[in-house]
Amino acid sequence: MSSPANNSTSFAPAAAARPSERDQLDRRVLELTTLYEISKLLGASLDLEQNLSAILRILNAFMGMRKGTILLYDPLQDELSIRVAVGMTPEEITRGKYHKGEGILGKVMLHGLPMVIPDIGAEPEFLDRTRSRGDLLSQAIAFIAVPIKVGGATIGVLTVDRLFAERVSFEEDVRVLCIVASLIGQGVNLQQHVVREREGLLEQTRSLQQALRDRYRLESVVGQSERMREIYEAIHQVSQSRATVLLRGESGTGKELLARAIHYNSPRAGGPFIKINCAALPQTLLESELFGHEKGAFTGATATKKGRFELADNGTLFLDEIGDLPLDLQAKLLRVLQERSFERVGGTQTVAVDVRIVAATHQDLEAAIAAGIFREDLYYRLNVVPVLLPPLRERREDIPLLTEHFLAKYNQENNRKVRITGRALQEMLDYDWPGNVRELENSIERLVIMSRRRLILPEDLLLPVNPEGGHVERVTTPAKARSKSASTPSARSLSSLRDTERHQILQALTQAEGVQVKAAAVLGITPRQLAYRLRRHQIVRSFQPVS
Ligand SMILES: Nc1ncnc2c1ncn2[C@@H]1O[C@H](COP(=O)(O)OP(=O)(O)O)[C@@H](O)[C@H]1O
Ligand SMILES: [Mg+2]
Repeated sequence: MSSPANNSTSFAPAAAARPSERDQLDRRVLELTTLYEISKLLGASLDLEQNLSAILRILNAFMGMRKGTILLYDPLQDELSIRVAVGMTPEEITRGKYHKGEGILGKVMLHGLPMVIPDIGAEPEFLDRTRSRGDLLSQAIAFIAVPIKVGGATIGVLTVDRLFAERVSFEEDVRVLCIVASLIGQGVNLQQHVVREREGLLEQTRSLQQALRDRYRLESVVGQSERMREIYEAIHQVSQSRATVLLRGESGTGKELLARAIHYNSPRAGGPFIKINCAALPQTLLESELFGHEKGAFTGATATKKGRFELADNGTLFLDEIGDLPLDLQAKLLRVLQERSFERVGGTQTVAVDVRIVAATHQDLEAAIAAGIFREDLYYRLNVVPVLLPPLRERREDIPLLTEHFLAKYNQENNRKVRITGRALQEMLDYDWPGNVRELENSIERLVIMSRRRLILPEDLLLPVNPEGGHVERVTTPAKARSKSASTPSARSLSSLRDTERHQILQALTQAEGVQVKAAAVLGITPRQLAYRLRRHQIVRSFQPVS
């Protein structure tokens, strides 16, 4: 090893007598003990400042080194500053700041090589910026500085002072200190890695929470129809309370979306939103999912497990498909709603929770009560604030807004710029959407992904023909509303329009003897448009073109 600076800073053996073999052996043992202690320390804790000062104290105690400092370099500020020091006052520490290349420390930093100054009083490059050594000339002090490296890059400097007269060669000091510095480097690296990882995780959690909040704010519920506005108002009112809300409506009308909106607009927004689908699990599993179980409660219960009620403490529990909850569990649920406490399956200890309940179902609960499969008392407990989500076909004015919303969403997700023509939108307005908003959303996602053009035409839609005489999975509205929905004027006029079109197509096909190109000409449309309408009216098979 050689010094990149001048000769005065090289670590020529001190002018001390050669140590005896015995001395050398003692020293080896000491060195090893020192290194062992330091590596033990670094393995035990990630507290950087604490570790570094402990290292200096060990060096001091075992190796008799005097003052010691550990400096770390901040590349953003081009500043090498003292992180920990032994034998210095806080003011002295704050004065110890250097740029790369500046003075001895700056040079060690710049070149990544150790330096020794046998007598700092005689060294012009020694800046003595900390002014911690009193009158330099009164004592003969040697100063050793070694680079702290991580993977070849110098990240700081380790320094020690040593009295000139001590009978050890600097070379040996440098060797030990280099090992110590590399241990420090690994420690710093690990600590920074952990800090970065922790910060990354925190950041991730923050942005996830933000995303969740954005997603389920009521603002992200699309729809400006009268019916939806009434719902927004109801939701805003109940959000602030902990009142139980019962959301009803056909599948795909947005019950879950609203349940989340209620949670994220409530004072519990910072707490958990926990969902459980009561129709998805057999009774015994559902029970332990809801209330948890104690270890050994049943075969396979190898550990105590918290149920969704406990997980939702201080938050909201969304009981989806509540109409499908088995009778036994209805009784248990009722008790929890009344007493706000329960026992885990196989347990005796009572668990108290603070949970807001939002339940949802597409079932006709009144009919279920009449049939004896839903408890009336539970129904009243749940039905504190009932909210009915109308099917999409009863609020067609929301279709354009929803279409825009989902186009924007899936265009962004798929990096596309698909738009929809007025005529295609008209088709969508005419369609009954038995799967409600979910069906609309899925259709648009498919269109955005599959469409080769930028513009969606009516023939791209491929909407299924509305089933004769009604809709899939009818909403469980009171009888009055039900009869109204079946005979809405728009539904009636639409079906007669469709009938007329179908009739015209059949006529044209008959006239053209089944030749589609000719039939299209008769109708004044393109063969492609005709093909689409044939599919739409499901009359393809009865009129194969003659070859
Ligand atoms: N008013 C709405 N605005 C925006 N998206 C909606 C709306 N209603 C439903 N959706 C979307 O439609 C899909 C189905 O809604 P969901 O809440 O799961 O319905 P449900 O629980 O009633 O079956 C979800 O992707 C949801 O985000
Ligand atoms: Mg649902």
